[in-house]
Amino acid sequence: MKLNCLFSKEQISRRVKELARQITRDYSNSNELFILCVLNGSIFFAADLLRELKIPCMLNCIKAKSYEGSDPAESVNISYGSDINVEGKDVLIVEDIVDTGITLKALMDLYQTHNPRSVKVCAFLDKKSRRRSDVEVDYAGFEIGDQFVVGYGMDYNGKYRELPYIGYIYSE
Ligand code: IMP
Ligand code: MG
Repeated sequence: MKLNCLFSKEQISRRVKELARQITRDYSNSNELFILCVLNGSIFFAADLLRELKIPCMLNCIKAKSYEGSDPAESVNISYGSDINVEGKDVLIVEDIVDTGITLKALMDLYQTHNPRSVKVCAFLDKKSRRRSDVEVDYAGFEIGDQFVVGYGMDYNGKYRELPYIGYIYSE
């Protein structure tokens, strides 16, 4: 198995700053942004993004698991030690990548029932062509095709999360 670079560390850093500028602008009237970092994959992206935001935020984490290897699973397992009290708050779900959209749909449904002021989604990567669920990504870093990627928090069977770039796996 080999890895090719899809987005370099520099490309990632530039795009994160642009997204942060856009989000800062859009939420300039918000009292406080309730950030929901979806573990494990979003940990690097959320850490970088939050440090570029120029608005008050509260960081919350939730664990969602839907993948086995590179195959999406049918059900999403959500476990939260995080605050679910989002009544009247602006919620921003931060995802590493949205693929089928099944994970995101489960999270949107969960948070919508707690009367937030708004719920939006920021995903570093968007595999739009693979969508099987009716969800919108409000802020996307990059749109990519149907390829399995790793690095910048994303894994293949728990491996490669630590890579500073985003790569795709191919076999020779
Ligand atoms: P979805 O429910 O199919 O949209 O998948 C959502 C989750 O699966 C993402 O948040 C990732 O954690 C993981 N995932 C989807 N595609 C990839 C990929 O290409 N590489 C690594 N993880 C992925
Ligand atoms: Mg994820």
